[in-house]
Amino acid sequence: MDQRTDVVDPQDLMDLPLPRPSECPFGPSPDFARLRVESPVVQVRCPTGMRAWLVSRYADVREVLGDAERFSSRTGQVPHMMGHADPGRPVRPGEFTRMDGAEYQRFRRHIGPEVGTPKRLAELRPRVEAIVDERIDALAAGGSRADFYGDFTVPVTTAAISGVVGVPYADRHLFHHAAAAVFSDVTSEPEMAAAMRPLHAYLYQLVRSRREDPQDDGVSRIIARSEQANEPFTEAELVSMCAVMLVAGFDTTATALAHGMFALLAYREQYARLRADPSLIPSAVEEIVRCFGGAAGIARQVTRDTEIGGTPVRAGDYVVVAIQAADRDPAEFEDPDTIDVGRRMSGHLGFGYGTHQCFGQQTARLELSVVLEKLTRRIPSLRLASAVEEVPFKENTPVIGPAAVPVTWDEILPRERGQR
Ligand code: HEM
Repeated sequence: MDQRTDVVDPQDLMDLPLPRPSECPFGPSPDFARLRVESPVVQVRCPTGMRAWLVSRYADVREVLGDAERFSSRTGQVPHMMGHADPGRPVRPGEFTRMDGAEYQRFRRHIGPEVGTPKRLAELRPRVEAIVDERIDALAAGGSRADFYGDFTVPVTTAAISGVVGVPYADRHLFHHAAAAVFSDVTSEPEMAAAMRPLHAYLYQLVRSRREDPQDDGVSRIIARSEQANEPFTEAELVSMCAVMLVAGFDTTATALAHGMFALLAYREQYARLRADPSLIPSAVEEIVRCFGGAAGIARQVTRDTEIGGTPVRAGDYVVVAIQAADRDPAEFEDPDTIDVGRRMSGHLGFGYGTHQCFGQQTARLELSVVLEKLTRRIPSLRLASAVEEVPFKENTPVIGPAAVPVTWDEILPRERGQR
């Protein structure tokens, strides 16, 4: 069979998204197991009408993400899922997620240190610890039942990203509202513009004030770093960059954390292992990101005629890498569908791979680690408050995960008793 996208009868194309398993809320579509063996690079029709090559094997996904010259990010991350994210629209100033090459590196150079250096992370840790303790205290004050996603992970990751960028937590509604629009596949382009306008207006003020009066915060340092290097950012670029960080930084982490804890509480022996042996927390964090990172897949565009895993693809074709499927590839991970907090592995793709690999991965790792440390100490009796199959899932979004995780507990230990 000719495998070219443009010669396949549209009737024969598979539709994305592939159905998620009804019996188990912890895995990507079971169809991926078959695809990885029979059609690892296959043509699909996306919800936005775009045709793309769906790539599901670990080695192939890594190859695509690792080669920015053959596979461009110009499309944006999720144009296959979101009608408002037309892959052909012009790249806006500061929209670095859709840039390649040197144009992109200018952004990475100046933002990267803000979220990834050991010094910055060491400064962030006590802040994140305080945020997590406060939220655990709030759970205790609220009774013996809560929604772990809405009442806990969203406030924790919101406070963390607010601190990283330098936006007061009190102003979070602006980027929550924008993120809800960005990550919804039912948002139209005009709705998107309307949702971003107040955030952009706010960030313009913030950027101007930091230019005139630098503070000890992320925006001020990014401005200073770029100016010292003689590569100053324009106001429009700074506004867009801050918006990307705020929007990309909280619900991805909140959802992965909620999904991960949902799994650890559903397979409660895993939570018990962490309580008994906190040295497993770093591997538990990686396991959560392997299983629940990566979202619904990331898009790229082929820049020149080439092959993926032996399948020819042409310049201009779209590619969607199914990260969660790749991270469940038995060729790479032993017993990949089992969540194992002690798993020894390297190289999952939950934070992506290659040039555009997640900017905030060290921040996310820090947040997940602190949450697991504090929860296992202070709420050893934490458990699900509803049956696994009753936990509702988000709809109309590529950020796959639970919409709420009802939890309960017997006792929450005060901060001082929760010390090891
Ligand atoms: C568990 C939480 C997270 C997951 C699973 C995650 C996942 C990802 C993935 C898969 C990509 C790659 C996109 C691509 O290749 O096109 C990415 C990019 C990105 N992430 Fe994250 N992320 C998380 C947390 C964060 C946080 C906390 C921040 C902010 C501090 C952040 C900021 C970004 C940004 C700015 C990009 C775009 C990078 C680029 O295009 O060069 N992420 N993330």
